[in-house]
Amino acid sequence: TEVDMSLEALEKGGYEHFMLKEIFDQPKCIIDCMRGRLLPDKKKIVLSAINMHRERLLRANRFIIVACGTSWHAGLIGKQMIEQWCKIPVEVEYASEFRYRNPVIQPNDVVIAISQSGETADTMAAFELAKKHGALCFGIVNGVGSSISRESDTGIYIHVGPEIGVASTKAFTGQVTVLTLFSLALGHELGVIGQVEYEQHIDELARIPRKIEEILKKDDCIKKIAHSLKDARNSLYMGRGFNYPVALEGALKLKEISYIHAEGYPAAEMKHGSIALVDEDMPVVFVATHHQLYKKIISNIEEVKSRNGRIIAIVTEGDEEVKKLAESVIEIPPTLPTIVPLLSVIPLQLIAYHVAVDKGLNVDQPRNLAKAVTVE
Ligand code: G6P
Repeated sequence: TEVDMSLEALEKGGYEHFMLKEIFDQPKCIIDCMRGRLLPDKKKIVLSAINMHRERLLRANRFIIVACGTSWHAGLIGKQMIEQWCKIPVEVEYASEFRYRNPVIQPNDVVIAISQSGETADTMAAFELAKKHGALCFGIVNGVGSSISRESDTGIYIHVGPEIGVASTKAFTGQVTVLTLFSLALGHELGVIGQVEYEQHIDELARIPRKIEEILKKDDCIKKIAHSLKDARNSLYMGRGFNYPVALEGALKLKEISYIHAEGYPAAEMKHGSIALVDEDMPVVFVATHHQLYKKIISNIEEVKSRNGRIIAIVTEGDEEVKKLAESVIEIPPTLPTIVPLLSVIPLQLIAYHVAVDKGLNVDQPRNLAKAVTVE
């Protein structure tokens, strides 16, 4: 009806689709997510979950992250941060595999469930299993009052507001933000992360919403690049280090809504298989920002170039080397290597969105997919 239509238009806040609105809302969502937690003036991070379960968290033997889909990709980033700043081993598990594997779970383990909806059946079951074995159950959830949040001993809401588009965007950056706050705060309590590094990250986190805004201003240029991908049947996404999970997430976005076959890989693994697929019809999206593995990823890009692959790259502002090799590049502002996923994922979300719109597909409700998978 007319009333419903205008209500929906109102909810979309002037955007054509919920997904686009949710992508553009990310600067504000990250501010909401960090409010009262990141205190740049005091050079502090305050998380009530850590205050309330301090002893238990400080003596954690191991973290096990359970999740599905996009939330699992956020978990892969969380693993790298917790291991780097807390020096505690982390395993990242597909909830659906973990729950049926009879896994080793010990009372000193902390099991983190990451879920946008808080209602994913496999993640919930994995969490229940963890609870049965006496692990501390820590939820990183968006859905306030959801099943997973109720099953948690403690946790952190991402507070990014309801996500309507089936392809997750703002929940991903919210999850990564919370995982960053959590690992920095715990690493600081443990005395593992140095004060200088800790404060540097606090200052940089405060700048992230502005930097995302800068990337969003490039939407027109990203749209043109997306147009060049429209007729592809297959594509590859490559990244290394903290950008490896971003490559997985970029590929997932594209396949979910544009129905183009896309695979994400850690770039160096390409020579063990996927390079065999590269020819002039294969677009390869490289997430190649200026970080520790930059030189190495350049040589991966050269390998694709010499096989006539089409190269699209996400690079740091001012990059010279990748530009010489790529068909097109999208520049993002410089940031710290650990925080880069919060920026590098944004152009990949926009690419997927524009390809799908270009193909005339239903962006907010792609075929065969559900927003929350509450059955097995
Ligand atoms: C579905 C959604 C994805 C989401 C995944 C996990 O597949 O379409 O966007 O990443 O479930 O959902 P959760 O709510 O547990 O994060």
